Amino acid sequence: MPSETVVIAADHGGVELKALLVGDLKARGFDVLDLGTDSSASVDYPDFAQALAKAIRDGRAARGVLICGSGIGMSIAANRFPEIRAALAHDHLSAKLCRQHNDANVLCLGARLIGPEVARDCLNAFLDTKFEGGRHAGRVAKMSSPVVATEA
Ligand code: RB5
Repeated sequence: MPSETVVIAADHGGVELKALLVGDLKARGFDVLDLGTDSSASVDYPDFAQALAKAIRDGRAARGVLICGSGIGMSIAANRFPEIRAALAHDHLSAKLCRQHNDANVLCLGARLIGPEVARDCLNAFLDTKFEGGRHAGRVAKMSSPVVATEA
């Protein structure tokens, strides 16, 4: 069976954590599409979120990981793409629930807010947890075809 490709990207705030998680992904047998950044030089997180979203949109990977200082900017930027359900997780349970209930396809992590071991635990929970479907399926579908709210 061919191995799955996981795409990953970070801004300068997440470079060290990205390197750690790339190692973990490879150790688990995933192919890794690493979109950078690879140095501490300041970059703009939307550029990396957009590159990762396009990789998923184009079918180069089905799941991805985005890292910045807080994880917030990456999650906002990635969620502007309709194919992306990016979830910011700070612990095992949030990483698990974003898969079970929301079918998240991108895990966002804040490298300045959580430690490396918590981040690794989040990644494993994200990778190992299946979407529950059922009552959650219709809700997730609504996010792909949002109805614009009108004033009453
Ligand atoms: C960069 O300094 C920082 O703003 C960025 O990594 C991220 O936290 C943004 O949401």
